[in-house]
Amino acid sequence: MSDWWKKSVVYQVYPRSFCDSNGDGVGDLRGIIGKLDYIKTLGADVIWLNPIYASPNDDNGSDISDYYAIMPAFGTMAELDELLREAPARGLHILMDLVVNHTSDEHPWFKESRKSKDNPYRDFYIWREGKGTLPPNNWWSYFGGSAWQKCDETGEYYLHVFSRKQPDLNWENPAVRQEVYRIMRFWLDKGVDGFRMDVINYISKVPGLPDGPLMPNGLGDFGPGCINGPRIHEFLQEMNREVLSHYDVMTVGEMPGVSPEQACRYASVEGNELNMVFQFQHMELDFDERYSKWTLLPTPLDALRRNLSTWQTALHGKGWNSLYWNNHDQPRIVSRMGDDSTDALRTASAKMLGTLLHMMQGTPYVYEGEELGMTNVPFTSVEQYRDIDALNGYRELTIIHGLPHEEAFARVNGHSRDNARTPMQWDDSPNAGFTAGEPWIMMNPNYTTIHAAAQINDPDSVFSYYRQLIGLRKQYDIITEGDYEQLLENSKHFFAYRRHRNGQTLTVLCGFNRETIADDEVAPYCTGTQLLCNCSESSSGCWQPFETRVYLSQE
Ligand code: NOJ
Repeated sequence: MSDWWKKSVVYQVYPRSFCDSNGDGVGDLRGIIGKLDYIKTLGADVIWLNPIYASPNDDNGSDISDYYAIMPAFGTMAELDELLREAPARGLHILMDLVVNHTSDEHPWFKESRKSKDNPYRDFYIWREGKGTLPPNNWWSYFGGSAWQKCDETGEYYLHVFSRKQPDLNWENPAVRQEVYRIMRFWLDKGVDGFRMDVINYISKVPGLPDGPLMPNGLGDFGPGCINGPRIHEFLQEMNREVLSHYDVMTVGEMPGVSPEQACRYASVEGNELNMVFQFQHMELDFDERYSKWTLLPTPLDALRRNLSTWQTALHGKGWNSLYWNNHDQPRIVSRMGDDSTDALRTASAKMLGTLLHMMQGTPYVYEGEELGMTNVPFTSVEQYRDIDALNGYRELTIIHGLPHEEAFARVNGHSRDNARTPMQWDDSPNAGFTAGEPWIMMNPNYTTIHAAAQINDPDSVFSYYRQLIGLRKQYDIITEGDYEQLLENSKHFFAYRRHRNGQTLTVLCGFNRETIADDEVAPYCTGTQLLCNCSESSSGCWQPFETRVYLSQE
């Protein structure tokens, strides 16, 4: 098997919000086909599509009711086949999302399973008796309330770590695993180039499903009972043996709660499980002790530097990581760790953050709109949210934690997934050229100035800069292969590092300064050939806000 995915850059498409070809307000496959040249121009070579299968959309497609059918709002199987011809014709690979920790409660397996205790599909899911009037254990569900739902048909409860409409599959049952492998073969035989696997390290549960430690919301954490469970490596190795090892494809495991040491097993160089992990530690450094992701705190630079550097060092030569700032579950990075208060700061910080990430070892992911420096959304009311997570978050903060509306709303606004899910901003025509109809979620009003049409041919745009970053990865093996040395580990302003390979050194200097500062700390490292800089005027003695530079030197 080749490891083409090491030198690749993934572009993540959230189909619902990418491009709507038929005016129903929802993005679709034909819209994506029409934008393949745009992705090609950027230089990415893999497209990860968020789930496009049939789904009642309780969680925007992560609740699948038929793994062999396309969601009608997104198009038809014939259109997917067209995409699978058009993408490779441009050298683009297609990754499908594989959501198999759970299905929709409207999946035929679950409809059968709930009917009776002796139904042949009963063991496809995790059913337990309650404890008196209480659920079988104290686990919370990620989208609020208990992780257990009682069913009238038998009086038993089923487990759902996510919403009530996302019952967890029982991976202990070999028949479930065989069905999953069948689904995988179906798509691989069709020509997809791999899978992004949704919360794949949740599939093995601890036997006995023990209560979890109490959380501030009064429920127990399901983490210790569900995450990185006892049979997880066995299941992934079986999946690899039975399916993946027969295809030259790319796999990435979404794995909340994974450490660098565990990642080296899941995505080891021996390659008997997955190709890479998609981990979350750097996305959780700003979490609030009480309100977790609904935080108002900034990400501390020293924690970020320590964390990303640890991952770089720990995986080098042993495992493989994904590099990302954004996806459909995260607020926009330029608003979170950069500065979107003026156009100049937004542009400079978007480029700096892109540099920091793309010069590291791993496979970079660019989430739609990130390459334009798209920002968080100024939501003004809860009614504008569409995401089950934002709506539940607001409810929990106000009802369980008793926060006043203003504070709860500010917390959810800052971190809601809807920040990343407003439509792609193509141009300054009505609804940013995303749809001729009414978009399913509000537009970010800043689309009149932040949009692709303004950036594609502007050499100073975030888009052009991302294109350069991606180009450098293709050109210099040191970026893919070099080892990692952290610099200036106590700096208050800089995240700086070096990569080394075969006598070459790549030096990456990233300023997190919002104002101009003296450059004494980094000046000694500014040697070699400058490959990249995000500031138009090179200034001597000072470092512009969010300035970043990359140098290459030969011993
Ligand atoms: C992780 C996905 O990225 C997220 O969008 C989804 O809500 C949950 N898994 C449940 O499938």
